[in-house]
Amino acid sequence: MLARVLEPEAMETEAEVRQYDAMDHSEVNARFVADFLAVHGTGREGEILDVGTGTARIPIALAHADPQAKVLALDLSEAMLEQAAINIAKEGLSRRINCHLGDAKALVDQFGDGAFGAVVSNTIVHHIPDPAPVLGMMARLVAPGGTLFVRDLARPDTQAEIERLTALYCGGESPEAQALFAASLAAALSLDEIRAIVAELGLRAGEVHMTSDRHWTWVWVNRS
Ligand SMILES: C[S@@+](CC[C@H](N)C(=O)[O-])C[C@H]1O[C@@H](n2cnc3c(N)ncnc32)[C@H](O)[C@@H]1O
Repeated sequence: MLARVLEPEAMETEAEVRQYDAMDHSEVNARFVADFLAVHGTGREGEILDVGTGTARIPIALAHADPQAKVLALDLSEAMLEQAAINIAKEGLSRRINCHLGDAKALVDQFGDGAFGAVVSNTIVHHIPDPAPVLGMMARLVAPGGTLFVRDLARPDTQAEIERLTALYCGGESPEAQALFAASLAAALSLDEIRAIVAELGLRAGEVHMTSDRHWTWVWVNRS
């Protein structure tokens, strides 16, 4: 079993932002949106919070897929949000997607319990050294009847598997992008680790599943 090797938390430099935004995540983003909407449905009331939005590619895909959706796109990195605002404006979605500079580690202080119709998050858990409190806060922000949908990379058991996945999914990208993907896999939680966290939070661990050869997904509907 490989030990978790942390990455820097926020992606702050212009070079990091440019490199991240240039990578083609369209297929995984489309799948994220389709899988989320399959649970949550379209046309619902309540703003959707995207935690660790990066350059807002997921809010943009979500707003195109659900014409009623309004999204608050939150990130710790000002540089990411500057690019996000450009991407949102280019798509003509500035009225439906708002950017918010904020820290996932202080979500409840910023918004309060039950503030959102849904909370979504894609590939940020591996950036956070102690993810349990952050995941607990994401759940607290979901209004009754709303959906929590969190997806991230799963740390493989071996270095050979990290290398195999990097070649398979990033083989055509720049060496820097390949190194970033491999480092993200090494920083990720294993399936057992994320299940243990969800169980500690008192929410059903069985709702965390592997949803590809490199991602786990935790889906929880607030039935209270
Ligand atoms: C790998 S990117 C994923 C971006 C986006 N979710 C996507 O799927 O394209 C991770 C993002 O999480 C952000 N991030 C890391 N720690 C954070 C925190 N504590 N609060 C908010 N955002 C954070 C980083 O700045 C970065 O933009």
